[in-house]
Amino acid sequence: MNMSITGNRGMGKTSILCKFEEIAKDEGCLVLRMSNYEGNITNPVELAEFITTNLKREILTQKPLGPEWDKLKEWAVSIRPTIGFGDISLKIERDPVAQEMFRDRLTKLWHEMEKNRNAAVLLIDEAESLERVEGALVFLREVLQRTATDAKYMVVLAGKLNFPERMSESFSPLNRFFPCQTLAPFDRKEVEEYVQRQLKSVKVGIEAAPLHYIIEKSEGHPYVIVAMCNLIFDAIQDGQNTIKHDMIAQVEEKINAKLAQDFFNPMYHPLTPKAKQIIKAIALNVESLEFSFSDAVKWVGTPGNRISPYILELVRKGVIIKPERGRYQIFHGLFKDFVNGLAK
Ligand SMILES: Nc1ncnc2c1ncn2[C@@H]1O[C@H](COP(=O)(O)OP(=O)(O)O)[C@@H](O)[C@H]1O
Ligand SMILES: [Mg+2]
Repeated sequence: MNMSITGNRGMGKTSILCKFEEIAKDEGCLVLRMSNYEGNITNPVELAEFITTNLKREILTQKPLGPEWDKLKEWAVSIRPTIGFGDISLKIERDPVAQEMFRDRLTKLWHEMEKNRNAAVLLIDEAESLERVEGALVFLREVLQRTATDAKYMVVLAGKLNFPERMSESFSPLNRFFPCQTLAPFDRKEVEEYVQRQLKSVKVGIEAAPLHYIIEKSEGHPYVIVAMCNLIFDAIQDGQNTIKHDMIAQVEEKINAKLAQDFFNPMYHPLTPKAKQIIKAIALNVESLEFSFSDAVKWVGTPGNRISPYILELVRKGVIIKPERGRYQIFHGLFKDFVNGLAK
């Protein structure tokens, strides 16, 4: 079976893929984890080539066979003319020839590994960039579907995916082929469990106030929780066996600075100047974190058609999220504070 995992930035998509990799390897599977391929894959044929070449490399590097690298290069050159590269038509995902070649490759590769492997698991991270490649996911689905009878491939897509959310597509083939799980924030109990478990291993307790602080301020966001806890735990003095209420005052500034440096600024910095201006206006005016498009129009003071491309940019970069149709939300309260801090 295949699946997809969606979730906002820092919610644990990459972490869970790493965990899947560990489990799949223990279960005797060949694992290919793909990330950072954006720009290398601009059409379905390049996707096919990327997957098959990397699968082949995994197969070769796991057999102690001497000069694997040369073999791989030879192999890659040998498939190039068959898969074809230059004059690719735009509607390639519907092209039965390209599909057939990819299917054939996958089946052959499976036969090369099936004696030693229980399955081949493809873990595709940052899959939102594949989603933006016209036809890529449809191509992948159609090929995998027809490969299923001859070969054991399992694909997991992880990313800030759009296809599971579009209402019209809830029952689409893509959704049925890659049923989606959304990674949600930890609830209060889960945050507490995480903190207590970490502290138990060093035999340190925590008072209610600092625990409450972590629960509230982190909003259950895994990245934020881990960053907060690391700094708080770091500040524990030798011989101290409880995290007391006054400790937060000592580390709060450090927490905010660390999050700004490692998490918030890398999201904010690459934005276009106009998007920066818009998120600043929103952060300044929004009461909690939620707002509507017309709120944004009002606060920014620019007509809707002029700001909508930048709202889209902010959504794409994960700075704002769309909890439901027509509603928007700044992705984290501490990010709002960070942006408001910049304005000063
Ligand atoms: N289940 C989890 N338990 C504890 N910490 C987690 C968990 N998932 C994620 N994290 C923490 O959050 C950080 C960000 O997760 P990551 O997988 O990089 O998110 P994403 O890929 O969704 O942006 C991780 O480095 C880890 O510290
Ligand atoms: Mg990630």
